[in-house]
Amino acid sequence: MAEVITAEQLTARIAEYEPSRSTAERVIAVIDRDDVGAAELATVAGTDPVLVERIMRTANSIVFSGHANVRTLQHAVAVVGFETVRSLALASFVEGVTTVRRQDWQRAVSSAVGAASVARRLGADAQLAFSTGLLHDIGHALLESLDPTYQEVLDPYRGTPLTAASEAALLRAERSRYGLNHAVIAGDVLAYWNFAPDVVEAVAHHHTPKGSLSRLHAAIVDGYRLAHALASGVELAAYREVSDVLLPEYLPETTLDEVAAEIEERSRALLEDLFGVSSVGVGDA
Ligand SMILES: [Fe+2]
Repeated sequence: MAEVITAEQLTARIAEYEPSRSTAERVIAVIDRDDVGAAELATVAGTDPVLVERIMRTANSIVFSGHANVRTLQHAVAVVGFETVRSLALASFVEGVTTVRRQDWQRAVSSAVGAASVARRLGADAQLAFSTGLLHDIGHALLESLDPTYQEVLDPYRGTPLTAASEAALLRAERSRYGLNHAVIAGDVLAYWNFAPDVVEAVAHHHTPKGSLSRLHAAIVDGYRLAHALASGVELAAYREVSDVLLPEYLPETTLDEVAAEIEERSRALLEDLFGVSSVGVGDA
């Protein structure tokens, strides 16, 4: 069994994420300035070919523009928004220091699309919901970098449709093994990287939403839960009753089918654009 993670170990591991003169560092530093424009951000992001490709493909996906006509990086940055560029930059950097599985990327994309779709219904910022959804489970990669057997903890959760009990069981298993859960770790990493407090809160408590939530937080929670349900092949008509994890006070039942159709269509399109695959099933994770 892996040892409980100490505060010192976690701090040291998070410090490994601190970029040194990397593109990610420059991208994030530029975004943190109030006076930055799309042209300057595009110039900085343009030094990383992988990042450029992801920004361009995302901008040209149905999620943002609906038709492929974004030809310059500057235009793409304006279309996807600065926060999505920040998320893609951090994700690329994390890929450089630990393992981010293809399946994790696919789940991240579906959750991001789900969060954006829900955000539109709730009147929340859809761009910010997309970028936050993209990173909400980055704690999985971090835990796997600390413990190569972490997938054994994750497998039972991934192999079943989401319920309140399955989410609680995952958090319990992580806490008993490491002393922390992946959501709290992800929140710490994002705080360390100067993500906004409402983003940090939504990520740190994406499995434990309590009380009155911000619209962004509600969009992240319902977004990843719907994306998970769709990947599990769950019939949405009965999902609210069986899952006990959606937030009825935020997302009206009448919009569920509509949101689900949007998530399926847009996730498929973006996954094809980014990876050349259209879906990821529960068994793939
Ligand atoms: Fe999670």
